[in-house]
Amino acid sequence: MTAPSTPSVAAPPTASRRGLISALMLVAAVCVAVVALVVLLPAARSDPYTRSTLQLSGSGERGEQLFLINCAGCHGIAAQGLVGPNLHGVNSRKNNRQLIQQVVSGRTPPMPRFQPEPQAMADLLAYLHALT
Ligand code: HEC
Repeated sequence: MTAPSTPSVAAPPTASRRGLISALMLVAAVCVAVVALVVLLPAARSDPYTRSTLQLSGSGERGEQLFLINCAGCHGIAAQGLVGPNLHGVNSRKNNRQLIQQVVSGRTPPMPRFQPEPQAMADLLAYLHALT
């Protein structure tokens, strides 16, 4: 590498201008971080389906009907456990988000993936909560 034959015309940035530039870059980085925290984190924690389900109040009675039709074959008509585990006290093992994931994800075969409407999911949650 050889040095340029003519000296550069532009003056090197002064120390104070460099300080201003890094201060502005810091402010920009903080803004990006704040926006990411405010916008992305809650969205990652709760998808729209889970959010709308949790905003509804469920009926344990309707939840029981749904349970008898869809779930009792594996979990027993009183949720006492059969192919699937006993669900009494399940809400002390899993929070609402985990219960919803259990029902809609299909991640633990042989339990299938269900796609209840948010209101039906809220009803199922109410039923599961009532199983002490
Ligand atoms: C084909 C059988 C089957 C059906 C139908 C089924 N499940 Fe399951 N379920 C399972 C099995 C097996 C597990 C255990 C999965 C594992 O953790 O490996 C399970 C686990 C669960 C759990 C977690 C239990 C715990 O102790 O953590 C919940 C809650 C649950 N089921 C709710 C339901 C609901 C609500 C329905 C109806 C919408 C349903 N299941 C339908 C088989 C079934």
